[in-house]
Amino acid sequence: MNANEKKQQLLDRLKPYGQEHVLRFWDQLSDEGRQRLARQIEQLDLAQLDAILRCEQVSEDWAALAQRACGPPAFRLDREDERISRQQARQRGEQELRTGCLGVVIVAGGQGTRLGFDAPKGLFPIGPVSEASLFQILVEKVVALGRRYGVRVPLYVMTSPATHRATVDFFADHDCFGLPGESVRIFSQGTMPAVDARTHRLLLAEKDSLALSPDGHGGLVAALVRSGALEDMQRRGLKHLFYMQVDNPLVEVGEPTFLGYHILSGSELSTQVKAKTDPEEKVGNVVSVDGHVRIIEYSDLPAEAACRCDARGELELWAGNIAVHLFDVDFLNRVADDPESLPFHLARKKVPYLDEQGRRVEPSEPNAIKFERFIFDLLPMAQQAIVVEVDPRRVFAPLKNAPGSGQWSPETVRQQMIELHTEWLREAGATVDPGVAVEISPLFALDAEQLRERIPAKLRVCQPMYFAEVTGRGKPNV
Ligand code: UD1
Repeated sequence: MNANEKKQQLLDRLKPYGQEHVLRFWDQLSDEGRQRLARQIEQLDLAQLDAILRCEQVSEDWAALAQRACGPPAFRLDREDERISRQQARQRGEQELRTGCLGVVIVAGGQGTRLGFDAPKGLFPIGPVSEASLFQILVEKVVALGRRYGVRVPLYVMTSPATHRATVDFFADHDCFGLPGESVRIFSQGTMPAVDARTHRLLLAEKDSLALSPDGHGGLVAALVRSGALEDMQRRGLKHLFYMQVDNPLVEVGEPTFLGYHILSGSELSTQVKAKTDPEEKVGNVVSVDGHVRIIEYSDLPAEAACRCDARGELELWAGNIAVHLFDVDFLNRVADDPESLPFHLARKKVPYLDEQGRRVEPSEPNAIKFERFIFDLLPMAQQAIVVEVDPRRVFAPLKNAPGSGQWSPETVRQQMIELHTEWLREAGATVDPGVAVEISPLFALDAEQLRERIPAKLRVCQPMYFAEVTGRGKPNV
C-alpha cells in the first residue's frame, strides 16, 4: 500500500470520530514517521475513547459513593481478630511460602513526574549509605524471601514504553540483582492517548506521534495476558501474586502474616492499609460500600467525606491504601477474560502538544485529559476481599516527591530507612551512636531477628555502615 492509500485508510478510521487532524503533517513525514504514526492510530480503540468521553463508560459518582462509604472491616494492629489469630495467620503464610507458590509483581510503568528524576523511578539511588537503587532493594527482598523459605520466587516487572528500555538494561547491567534470569520477566503495559480537555481532540506530541501515556496500573491485567506472564504463572504453579509499587523500599515482600490472613479468609484479593493521620492525606481511601471493599482515590474524595468522624471522634474513613496487595492467580485469570471491566479514571493534566502550525506548546495550566485504569478497582469483584492494617513506620516510605520537598522526598525516605535499621540493630543487641547512618541490605537480614544471628555480640556502630552481601548472577528474561 502506498503512502496515499495508507493515509486514506487511516482517514476512514479517524473521520467517524472527528479525529482526522492527527494526519495534518502526514505529507511532511518520512516513511519511518508515517509507519510510526499509522501504528499508533491503528492501535487506538476510537470507539472506546468516544464512549468514555461521552461518559458512557465513566465508572462512578465518587461523591455519592463517598457518602455511602464507611471504614472497612479489617484485621487491626491494636487488637487480635476473634476468628484468625496473628500467630495462626503467620504459620499458615509460612507454610504456603514453603510450597513455592508465590510470585511477586512490581508495577513500575509510572512516569514519576513529581520526583523530577529523568530515568525510571526504580533506578533512583535511595539507599542512605549504599545508594542502592529502589530496584536493587526490592529485588533483593525477593531473593531473600526465596532463600528464607528454600524456594524460587519469580518476579514480574511491569514497565511502560517510557520506562521499558532503561529498566531492561538496568536489570541486565546488574545481573538481575541476584535473581536467576529465568525467574525475571519484564513486560510493558499499554498506553492511552491524551485529548484536549475542551475539544476532546487527540493531541500530537510530535508530527509523527500522538501524545500517549501509560494506561494506569490497571493496565496490568491486559499486560499480564498480552505478555504471557499470566500463563507463565500458571505453568509455574503459582497460586498467589504479591503486588507492590516501585516506590516503597520498606515494603515487606511476601510477608507471611498477610498471606496467612489472605488464605485463611478465603480471600481472592487482599490489601494492606495504614491508619490515616490526616483526613486529606494523599493516600487512597480503603472503604466499604454496600458490603464491598473498594478504594476511593484521594483526588476523588470530597473533603467533607474525608473529615467525617464516628461517635468516638475518629476518622470514619480511616484506612489509607499503601498499595500492597495479594492476588489469587485464579482470580486474575477470571478477570483477565474481560480486561475491559476496569473503568477508566479521567485526570486533567498539563500535556505538551503541537499546535496547528506544528509549534510545540508547553501549557502552564492543565489542558488535557488523560485516561488511567486502577488495579484496585478489582476489589469489589473479588470474593472475600480483606483488609490488613500495618505499621507505616516500619513498612511504608514511598518515594514520591523531589529532593527538598518534605514528606515522601528522598531525604525523608532515607531517614525512615535509617531509623528502622537502627531500631533492628538495637533490638539485635548492637549499639548505634546517635546520628550515625546505617543501612541493612535485605540479603544480609530481613528483620531484627535475622540480624541478631549475623552480627557479632556487642557490636558498636560509630560510623556510617552498610550491612551487605555479594549478589549472584543472571540475565532478565524480556
Ligand atoms: C498511589 C495510589 C494511592 C496510594 C499510594 C501509596 C493510585 C492511583 N493511587 O498513589 O491510593 O495511597 O500510591 O503510595 O495508584 N504505575 C504504573 N503504570 C501507570 C501508572 C502508575 O505502573 O500507568 C505505577 C507507578 O510506577 C507506581 C505506582 O503505580 O509504582 C503508583 O503510581 P503513582 O502515580 O505514584 O500513584 P500515587 O498517586 O502516588
